[in-house]
Amino acid sequence: MKKFITAVLIIYASILFAQQKTIEQRVDSVLTLMTLDEKIGQLNQYSGGWETGVRTDNSVRDREELVRTGKVGSFLNVIGADLTRKIQKIAVEQSRLKIPIIFGLDVIHGFRSTFPVPIAEASSWNPKLVETSTRWQATEAASAGVHWTFAPMVDIARDPRWGRIVEGSGEDPYLGSIMAAAAVKGFQGNDLSANNTIAACAKHFAGYGAAEGGRDYNTADFSERTFHEIYLRPFKAAVDAGVATLMCSFNEIGGVPSSANYELLTKILRDDWKFKGFVVSDWNSIGELIPHGVAKDLKQAAELGIKAGVDMDMESNAYIRNLKTLVEEKKVSVQNIDESVRRILRVKFELGLFDDPYKYCDEKREKETEFSKEIVEATRKVARESIVLLKNEKNILPLSKEIKSVAVIGPLANSHEDPLGPWSGVSDSTHVVTVLDGVKSKLGAAANILYSQGCTITGTSEDGFKSAVESAQKADAVILCLGESLNMSGEASARASLDLPGVQEKLAEEIFKTGKPVVVVLMNGRPLTINWISENIPAVVETWFLGIQSGNAIADVLFGDYNPNGKLPVTFPRSVGQVPIYYNHKNTGRPYNPKDHYTSYYQDLQNTPLYPFGYGLSYSKFEYSNLSLSSSKIKNGEPLKVKVDVKNVSSREGEEVVQLYVQDLVGSVTRPVKELKDFSKVDLKPGETKTVEFTITPDKLKFYDINMNFTVEPGDFKVFVGTNSVDLLESTFSID
Ligand code: BGC
Repeated sequence: MKKFITAVLIIYASILFAQQKTIEQRVDSVLTLMTLDEKIGQLNQYSGGWETGVRTDNSVRDREELVRTGKVGSFLNVIGADLTRKIQKIAVEQSRLKIPIIFGLDVIHGFRSTFPVPIAEASSWNPKLVETSTRWQATEAASAGVHWTFAPMVDIARDPRWGRIVEGSGEDPYLGSIMAAAAVKGFQGNDLSANNTIAACAKHFAGYGAAEGGRDYNTADFSERTFHEIYLRPFKAAVDAGVATLMCSFNEIGGVPSSANYELLTKILRDDWKFKGFVVSDWNSIGELIPHGVAKDLKQAAELGIKAGVDMDMESNAYIRNLKTLVEEKKVSVQNIDESVRRILRVKFELGLFDDPYKYCDEKREKETEFSKEIVEATRKVARESIVLLKNEKNILPLSKEIKSVAVIGPLANSHEDPLGPWSGVSDSTHVVTVLDGVKSKLGAAANILYSQGCTITGTSEDGFKSAVESAQKADAVILCLGESLNMSGEASARASLDLPGVQEKLAEEIFKTGKPVVVVLMNGRPLTINWISENIPAVVETWFLGIQSGNAIADVLFGDYNPNGKLPVTFPRSVGQVPIYYNHKNTGRPYNPKDHYTSYYQDLQNTPLYPFGYGLSYSKFEYSNLSLSSSKIKNGEPLKVKVDVKNVSSREGEEVVQLYVQDLVGSVTRPVKELKDFSKVDLKPGETKTVEFTITPDKLKFYDINMNFTVEPGDFKVFVGTNSVDLLESTFSID
């Protein structure tokens, strides 16, 4: 009996000891047991399902054997409680060291229940909403065995030709940083080891959004200052928010592809920013060091990748096939490999996978969670707040719910696929509420709802115009749904034209001629050059791709059950020829002056955008007044308070995103004409006035000076506050 009690006590003590050990100690205790082959296996990631990149060499893909022999540390594209459990069981029962697998997936705007695309969610200018959305996305994915999402994409994009603009938060580094941090918080929650949180991955590190000509995977080249001030900022915000992983980008910058960029992946990320997680390559991006022209073969690519700081090789086979030889040849040190293994194991421990490798594989929870009522309701809520009202002449919106007949027209009016947007591979289009469905359920049987497709998204046939026009003629109002298909944006989906594809604009012209009140509902993944629509159609609503509840969310806005308050996170150009066009540009030495020919302008087009950054209307009307500063002169290092009164001068309660911009008038280097420094969404009852207060902290005025020091320079500044980046009240202050 005594022996038994002692044995129990020893077991209990060792469990307690194991629990009390820090993650670092536990990582080290695993690492010391590992052979070099097992270490290299942890650095290897394969797709265990479908391909989300170019076809790579997958001759050795017996998934189960790879796990059993410790040749893989992670799979992407393996989902489902069932399947992940089966594979995990092999890892923890049949592999020598029983190290659990980490399963990754692109949960970019939802798992099964598709949420709005990220550019749409950014249009809400509401980080809490993004956090709620990503929290739900994590909950649903985690219940199906997913531990890790390759999101958020925090690439700044100033070029709408680039298809992946849809995946990010737009053109501004401040808004992008706020949204990056919110998404990390949402995915990861407060406790990574909880069974409803997943590790996030800020991508694509870095500069990927600056692809020349907007063509995906293309070269990026910009100054070091622009890199730090524009492209790196949202990554820094994600790191500061505790993001568990980063993905390096495909592109090169100044001759150095990111997968071989030591300066970026080690000096900036680890030494300066103190990032403790791991870096995964992009799909085959280590292998692509060969066509980039910095590696002569896969072996050299592996050497460059691991030395630069890429810890996990996604799909290249570079590490698994070459690292051992590279170590034997003393070209790569074991310490280098140990460091990468340590980072990966650390995240596996943080996720709680060593304590319970099956905690994310719960078939019951999976069933209960997928498309659950709460998630579906959340997608509708997020979708409504992601909508931007671009035009509403004579207040034709909202439409009356008493309307007798409505024509719902256009190639996107009843599409079940397109509202899902580009990263929705594991969703289910039968769950999509189209605009037609949404209008029907909003108006019920009392209204006569006529549907006509009119044309396809990209086709040239006008055969459907006649019946579309007839539908319009019979109706009291027309809801015309135009835009892009889901696969016209996203990865490898650059466009050289930003016009509405096919004959859609022609269809709009024909419908317009009927003289009926027309509302254009846009669905698209990028800013479009919709000049004719914007000039002629009285009401225009930008909805991006809103996910499964698109139609209900759009009907809520069109019929006034929800008052739109979204603002554009990206500039809408008038012509593709203006690209890149962004609000925080430099003044130049010759800013445009209509009286002087030798200034910066186009001969054939205005410089101004069609819709500026930060733009968006509401059914309410807001007036700004009494902009005041706590002082007109402050000392360097002191904060400054800025106040403004915002009044709702309409008879409808509404929300307004109040925006604060600053211009640093004279610096050791040139500064943008304005930069977003803060914003606040306020709810105002009819007739109500609120004083909105911002604090400009010294940090907000810092920039990289002539010597690349991140600092505030004394001098004169302008402050602007208002409803978008153009319509602003302004004042000045100086710093001694
Ligand atoms: C994309 C990444 C994605 C990865 C895995 C790549 O082609 O660039 O954004 O996370 O595939 O699917």
